[in-house]
Amino acid sequence: MLSQRVKKAVLPVAGLGTRVLPGAKTTPKNLLNVFDRPILSYIVEEARAAGIEHFVFIVGRGQGAIEDYFDANPEIEGTLEAKGKLDILADVRRDLPQPGEMSFVRQMAPLGLGHAVWCARHIIGDEPFAVMLPDMLMMASPTALAQAVAAHEETGGNIVVVEPVPEGEAHKYGIVALEGRDGRLNRMTGMVEKPPPGTEPSNLFISGRYILQPEIFEILETQERGAGGEIQLTDGMANLMKTQAFHALEYDGTTYDCGDKIGLLRANVAFALARPDLGEAARKAITDLL
Ligand code: UTP
Repeated sequence: MLSQRVKKAVLPVAGLGTRVLPGAKTTPKNLLNVFDRPILSYIVEEARAAGIEHFVFIVGRGQGAIEDYFDANPEIEGTLEAKGKLDILADVRRDLPQPGEMSFVRQMAPLGLGHAVWCARHIIGDEPFAVMLPDMLMMASPTALAQAVAAHEETGGNIVVVEPVPEGEAHKYGIVALEGRDGRLNRMTGMVEKPPPGTEPSNLFISGRYILQPEIFEILETQERGAGGEIQLTDGMANLMKTQAFHALEYDGTTYDCGDKIGLLRANVAFALARPDLGEAARKAITDLL
C-alpha cells in the first residue's frame, strides 16, 4: 500500500513524573541518565534511525533544560576542545540537531497525553506522524519506531506498538482488542485505557510508539476527559478507529519503563551491560555488588 512517509515525531514530556520524584523535581524526568546519557538521547537516536527529520517536544514549565540539552554549549565545548578531551566533546555534540529540526511547544497544564499530542497540531499539519513516549525506552534492532514505520509502509492507516503486559498489570495500561492474531501485525477492533481488572480485551498493552493520521487532531480537539480525569490519547484513537484502520504491531525488542523507579534501574543495568566499550566493566561492578 502506498503511504505517506513519516517525517515528524511528537515527544510529549510535559508530565510531572510523580513516580520518579524527587529526582524529577528540578531535572525533567526524560533528562535523567540511563547509564551515561539522558533518556531523551536514546529516544532521539531511535527516531533518527526510523527516518524522523523533525522533533516536536511538548514541554511544561521548568523544562527549559530540555531545550538547553539540544543546544550548543560554547563554554563546555570550548573547555573540552582546549583540553584536548575530544572523545567527551564528540559525546556532548552527538545529539545536537541541525538548525530547525526541533520545535518546543508549551502544554500549559498537564491535562493528559491526548491533550499533549493535540498541542502539536499546527506543526504536524496534514501528514501522518509518530508519537513517542520518551519514558518508555526500547532496546531493539531495528529500532522500535523503525519497526512501526515499516509496518505503516505495509498497511497505511494507524499503527500502535504493543507488547505482552506483565501478569496482573493490565489495569495500569492501554490495552488493545484484535480482530484475530496471526503474526506480529494484526488489525485492531478496539482499545481501552486502564481497564478494570479482569475486563481487558487482550494481554497486549500499548507501549509508547504510534504512527497516527492527522485526523486524530480534530477528534482530540473535542475529546472529553477519560480515565484519571485526563484527556486520553487512547480514547481519541478509539474514536478515530470508527473511520480509519488501526493495526497493532507486536515489536521485536525489550521495553524499560523509565517513568518508574525500578524500571529506570533496570534500564540503567541493561543499557550499561549492552555497551560494547563499557559493558564488561559494568558487568564486573554489578557482579561485585551482588
Ligand atoms: P505518564 O503518565 O507516564 O507521565 O505520561 P507522567 O505524568 O510524567 O508520570 P507520573 O505518572 O506522574 O509519574 C506518559 C508521557 O506523556 C507525557 C509525560 O511527560 C510522559 O512522557 N505527558 C503526560 C504530557 O506531556 N502531558 C500530559 O498532560 C500527560
